[in-house]
Amino acid sequence: MSEPGRATAIQGLSVREVRAREPGLGSGLCALLLDSVAYGASIGFLSSLTRDTAERYWDEVFDALGERVRLWVAQIDGDVVGAVQVTPCLKPNGRHRGDLQKLLVHSEFRRHGVATALMDMAERSAARAGLSLLVLDTIRGCDAERLYQRRGWQRAGAIPDYAGTPDGVLHDTVYYYKIIGR
Ligand SMILES: CC(C)(COP(=O)(O)OP(=O)(O)OC[C@H]1O[C@@H](n2cnc3c(N)ncnc32)[C@H](O)[C@@H]1OP(=O)(O)O)[C@@H](O)C(=O)NCCC(=O)NCCS
Repeated sequence: MSEPGRATAIQGLSVREVRAREPGLGSGLCALLLDSVAYGASIGFLSSLTRDTAERYWDEVFDALGERVRLWVAQIDGDVVGAVQVTPCLKPNGRHRGDLQKLLVHSEFRRHGVATALMDMAERSAARAGLSLLVLDTIRGCDAERLYQRRGWQRAGAIPDYAGTPDGVLHDTVYYYKIIGR
């Protein structure tokens, strides 16, 4: 039996890397992005985000898959319930590092270990691909901070009023890093 309040794996959950454009995945990813923004996630968009803009965003992600972006999705019975990306640094002196970004779990499926499963896979895959350092930023005090801290991410510092939530209110951004693959 699981401990109360602890993440429990959802039956039928699968996490996999998306390596090329998949026509069937776009609408699920758009729904995920729209849901996350509607629930106040600070992930680069304002509450005015439209489905068209969300589609264009995922189109660009699909175009960049491979060297520029790696994308993992979590699905339950084929439905997209979460996603995360790693963008490897392409500068010659930064080939060992990458940015982890857009960790999203659909509001209906939170607190069941979906983000944990995505992070497990993204961190392991990034390490296997030769990265030794991952970096991310997040809004101070948001739900994701506890997750990162529990997973051994180290807080590097904070910048006041760096980014806004979808309602346009500015918040402090906290930077985290994790040495991986050791
Ligand atoms: C943050 C987010 C990705 C977490 O996804 P999730 O699938 O619910 O996370 P998990 O179930 O794997 O949670 C793992 C741990 O993270 C922490 N955590 C997750 N959500 C939390 C919350 N609402 N409050 C406090 N801690 C939380 C807990 O320590 C949790 O473990 P526990 O359930 O055993 O206590 C999800 O809430 C989300 O998509 N938020 C909106 C988008 C966002 O802010 N992304 C981060 C951008 S930097």
